[in-house]
Amino acid sequence: MNSFTFHNPTKILFGAGMADQLGQQVAELGSQTVLLVYGGGSIKRTGLYDRVIKQLHQIGARIVELPGVEPNPRVSTVRRGIKLCRDEAVDLVLAVGGGSVIDAAKAVAVGVPYEGDVWDFLLRKAKIEAALPIATVLTLSATGSEMNGGAVITDWEQNLKKSFSSPYAFPKFSILDPTLTYTVPANQTVNGIVDMMSHVMEQYFSQTTDTPLQERLCESILQTVIENGEKALQEPAHPEARANLMLCGTYALNGGMISVGMQGDWATHAMEHEVSAIYDIAHAEGLSIIFPNWMKYVYRDRIDRFVQFAVRVWGIEPEGKSDEEIALAGIQATREYFTRIGAPSRLSDLNIGEESLPRMAEEAVRFGPIGYFRKLGADDVLAILRMSL
Ligand code: NZQ
Ligand code: ZN
Repeated sequence: MNSFTFHNPTKILFGAGMADQLGQQVAELGSQTVLLVYGGGSIKRTGLYDRVIKQLHQIGARIVELPGVEPNPRVSTVRRGIKLCRDEAVDLVLAVGGGSVIDAAKAVAVGVPYEGDVWDFLLRKAKIEAALPIATVLTLSATGSEMNGGAVITDWEQNLKKSFSSPYAFPKFSILDPTLTYTVPANQTVNGIVDMMSHVMEQYFSQTTDTPLQERLCESILQTVIENGEKALQEPAHPEARANLMLCGTYALNGGMISVGMQGDWATHAMEHEVSAIYDIAHAEGLSIIFPNWMKYVYRDRIDRFVQFAVRVWGIEPEGKSDEEIALAGIQATREYFTRIGAPSRLSDLNIGEESLPRMAEEAVRFGPIGYFRKLGADDVLAILRMSL
């Protein structure tokens, strides 16, 4: 196990009905002018918007709105939000929505005190040194953005999708009310399942040794997602399934709590971001396609971890099988689960062909080779993307 420092300052309010704690939490922060950031309208259809506005009015907060955050949020929208904050002297950025809304809110919050353009942070040309306070009400279990310092933003004109991670971008508080996710449609529920599983797997497939607790934490989250994911798909308002998925999504990527002292991989995420930078597909659709192919490409580098994954997570019977057969059965089980719940398995299913793959491969390694389980150069990325066609 490696040495580590772990600090996660986000306060979590978890449970049915917790959305009604919002006003009090904002009042405790002493915020007076709130930028309310939300997406394409789901919060209006579900009635959450009215609940939020009512509570903010009750505490006398002034509300400025940034609606229309796109899935795969655009830097143009972030720039609009930064201008609003400056013009209206906003002192809290409140995201009400899924990962895209939260990420956009984070980018707004770090962009306000910075004199240059916020995109500098995504290109790693500048370091984040301050931010407005951020708070969130989560409506979709998937990214973990509600309890981490990361954000992923797209410049659609340049077809670039880049991320930043900063201690300044952790939310002050996040409200995790699973009842808010009952309205999440099946395809977005599937995306959430694949994304949270991928976050765990990015950390689990590590070259670090002597990490038995971390490995078992990862395995138990994967098993809990696998069980509860199908329940939530069969019964969208299943209280326990939705609550368990929400907790799993948050634990899966909250500053690395489950994988402290362990070097994660993250190459699959880097590759996926290049796909959704050019094609407007959901992040998790790309992950569902690429992850099993990444596994096939690298599993021999540490077959014991892939054997353990197959046996402990998927219940593959090891008796009478070689390590190679067990490892491949685990990869196959992952592919089959994703397919069974309705996630795509080939880039060509999403009308993505060979033509953009070389560009994606080059862009993926812009800041150097990706991944730690095995370092991947542009040729490796291209090979994995071709396996995914
Ligand atoms: O826009 P609205 O109308 O709100 O609808 C959204 C959106 O269309 C809808 N939705 C959300 N909550 C709902 C709901 N519909 C009905 N009922 C509800 N309760 O769902 C659609 C997708 O929302 P989005 O926020 O885009 O999904 P998700 O949470 O999966 O976020 C995806 C984004 O997060 C990034 C991805 O790259 C992608 O841009 N990621 C962020 C990470 C982070 N910050 O840590 C890590 C991830 O790996 C990921 O890269
Ligand atoms: Zn992800």
